[in-house]
Amino acid sequence: MICIAIANQKGGVGKTTTAINVGTALAATGMRVLLLDLDPQGNASTGLGIGRAARDQHSTYDLLVGSASLDEVAIPTKVPRLDIVPATQDLSGAEIELIEFEARTHRLDAALARHAPARWDVVLIDCPPSLGLLTINAMVAAHALLVPLQCEFFALEGLSQLLSTIDRIRSRFNPGLSILGVALTMYDRRNRLTDQVADDVRAVLGKVVFDTVIPRNVRLSEAPSHGMPALIYDYRCAGSEAYIALAREVIERLPKLRKAA
Ligand SMILES: Nc1ncnc2c1ncn2[C@@H]1O[C@H](COP(=O)(O)OP(=O)(O)O)[C@@H](O)[C@H]1O
Ligand SMILES: [Mg+2]
Repeated sequence: MICIAIANQKGGVGKTTTAINVGTALAATGMRVLLLDLDPQGNASTGLGIGRAARDQHSTYDLLVGSASLDEVAIPTKVPRLDIVPATQDLSGAEIELIEFEARTHRLDAALARHAPARWDVVLIDCPPSLGLLTINAMVAAHALLVPLQCEFFALEGLSQLLSTIDRIRSRFNPGLSILGVALTMYDRRNRLTDQVADDVRAVLGKVVFDTVIPRNVRLSEAPSHGMPALIYDYRCAGSEAYIALAREVIERLPKLRKAA
């Protein structure tokens, strides 16, 4: 089992969209995928059409505080081979509540270690837009990070903070944590500034940046309100095609992780 955290402390950069659509694409290739919704806003859960009743019974909050096991909280989505642990608003309290817990940085890691390896090939964690205890739990549990970066003028701003958090997690808890890749999102070919940003990011970060660039595409933003991945809502739109290409690159990079895992 390979665990990938989709992280960037900036909100609205495409973390959830990436988690849903890369998860769907990986599942389509035959992998058994679990998406763990670690954002109190629960956008990944909504985007996959998980209703309130199901959420109240099964959530990442229960998993983190230890009131339920992964086997109890993981539920199927409409996408074959894609399961989810949904999120509820309770999670926003978990940042504070967990401080009291023993091994508070390792709650998710321990919960995954017990049940995930037998059931899933890949676990994707959709992180909240912060570098608090929830994201730290994700980074401790993960083998690698996928970092979506929005093609905007301030794209690189905040990245140094993310990188120094990764370094701290590596030295204290998880020496093997690697960066699977940086995905440029919301690329707008009509806007020359985004080209410039994409070039700058590649110049600074080099090969860690995926070749695939996710375009700004209205179908990607419509799909969640229908409770389905863009890849199913409209698999031929430019956004879906880009996510299929990104998933292909993710798959190409997995063997290196497996060796390290
Ligand atoms: N490539 C894209 N093109 C157009 N809209 C997008 C794209 N990616 C994400 N969105 C929309 O932008 C908003 C923020 O994206 P989201 O994936 O939720 O970001 P995050 O999880 O980082 O906060 C959502 O409304 C989403 O539907
Ligand atoms: Mg999100």
